[in-house]
Amino acid sequence: MEDQKFTKMALLFLSFFYVIAISRGVVPNRIGINYGQLGDNLPSPARSIKLLQNMNISRVKLYDADHEILNLLSGTDIDVAITVANDEISGIATNQRLADQWVYEHILVHYPITRIRFVLVGHEVFSSISTPEDMQIARDLVPAIKRIKNTIKQQGIRNIKIGTPLAMDMMQTTFPPSNGSFKPEIRELMVPLLKYINGSRSFFFVDIYPYISWSDSQVWNQTAINLDFALLRSGNETYTDPQSGLVYTNLLDQMLDSVVYAMSKLGYNEVMLAIAETGWPHEGELGANRENAAEYNNNLIRKMSAVPSVGTPARPGVVIPTFIFSLYDENQKYGPTTERHWGFLNPDGSLVYELNITSGV
Ligand SMILES: *[C@@H]1O[C@H](CO)[C@@H](O)[C@H](O)[C@H]1NC(C)=O
Ligand SMILES: *[C@@H]1O[C@H](CO)[C@@H](O)[C@H](O)[C@H]1NC(C)=O
Ligand SMILES: *[C@@H]1O[C@H](CO)[C@@H](O)[C@H](O)[C@H]1NC(C)=O
Ligand SMILES: *[C@@H]1O[C@H](CO)[C@@H](O)[C@H](O)[C@H]1NC(C)=O
Ligand SMILES: *[C@@H]1O[C@H](CO)[C@@H](O)[C@H](O)[C@H]1NC(C)=O
Ligand SMILES: *[C@@H]1O[C@H](CO)[C@@H](O)[C@H](O)[C@H]1NC(C)=O
Repeated sequence: MEDQKFTKMALLFLSFFYVIAISRGVVPNRIGINYGQLGDNLPSPARSIKLLQNMNISRVKLYDADHEILNLLSGTDIDVAITVANDEISGIATNQRLADQWVYEHILVHYPITRIRFVLVGHEVFSSISTPEDMQIARDLVPAIKRIKNTIKQQGIRNIKIGTPLAMDMMQTTFPPSNGSFKPEIRELMVPLLKYINGSRSFFFVDIYPYISWSDSQVWNQTAINLDFALLRSGNETYTDPQSGLVYTNLLDQMLDSVVYAMSKLGYNEVMLAIAETGWPHEGELGANRENAAEYNNNLIRKMSAVPSVGTPARPGVVIPTFIFSLYDENQKYGPTTERHWGFLNPDGSLVYELNITSGV
């Protein structure tokens, strides 16, 4: 009896110091995971959260702000990014009561027991603006962000950042990186957004896919982009930007820096970047296979979770919070085969390929 008690206490004591060692000694893993649910064969939310915990994943991004999932995440040590749907933006932008209601229902009900840390307003709202409604949503984005921020601030909450993920089709040019610029037609939308993000010290979230740039380049020009360069494989291939003189060893850094330069051209030199989505498909069209997906994602994890931070050539040493796309294959998505094969977990919870999600921690 005594022995058992002693053992129990000793274990408690040890685990206490273990926890301290972990929290003191190591900068938290900055890799997050996108948890999309457009599949009819996916594990339940409860099982999915268990799987995230088993893999020691410390950040998850949701494409909504689902009550069940936020409840399941309560009491875990997983940081959460939630999303305001595009069709909620205009209402929130014009009506503080709707903003208050959204914040109450999706944040206050769960916070702080659920570690909500990012609110992403909309999804790629500057992409494919084809109808007057799309344009209205794009114009309402910053007003909606401001209203949500107001409500959160009034509640005294200071550790939730607000942003919006944009796709790389916002770019007019990305190459060379120093020539990066936004499309002229969205500059008038971009300026107030950058002003807000800079002023609130939030992040400029981008959905950024070297896979897509690489595969486009293969279609248009067989020799355009080296696969190793796109896969973040440490090789000897480098590219020197003729204007900045900066030396690039991978495509992701080039793409990220093109956004840095585009922001600078509008007068915003200091806005921090975050990657809302990146990844590599493991099945489907050209270059989509398990080997490449494992290579890209493992190299990405190593780069983005390195201590001290690696950053990019234009911003050495700067932390870039990163969310990998995606937890699961989503079989209800349209488009080319690759669209349904970005996941790294099978529906039974096993890994599609070896992923060292916690390496570098
Ligand atoms: C998760 O963390 C625990 C405790 O640090 C460790 O024992 C376990 O191996 C980790 N699991 C993975 C998949 O890294
Ligand atoms: C920069 O991009 C513009 C198009 O936006 C292009 O005309 C110009 O040639 C590019 N500059 C360089 C150095 O590539
Ligand atoms: C961005 O924010 C910084 C820090 O608050 C400020 O000094 C700077 O003037 C801002 N930049 C612009 C272009 O507003
Ligand atoms: C393809 O790209 C390479 C390297 O950028 C270039 O030298 C070559 O002329 C391009 N070929 C075609 C057919 O555009
Ligand atoms: C890269 O390294 C390999 C092997 O070391 C060598 O054969 C190749 O010529 C190098 N390529 C470049 C572009 O330096
Ligand atoms: C994952 O990490 C282990 C141990 O550090 C290493 O042996 C293995 O090669 C890594 N796998 C990949 C795919 O990087």
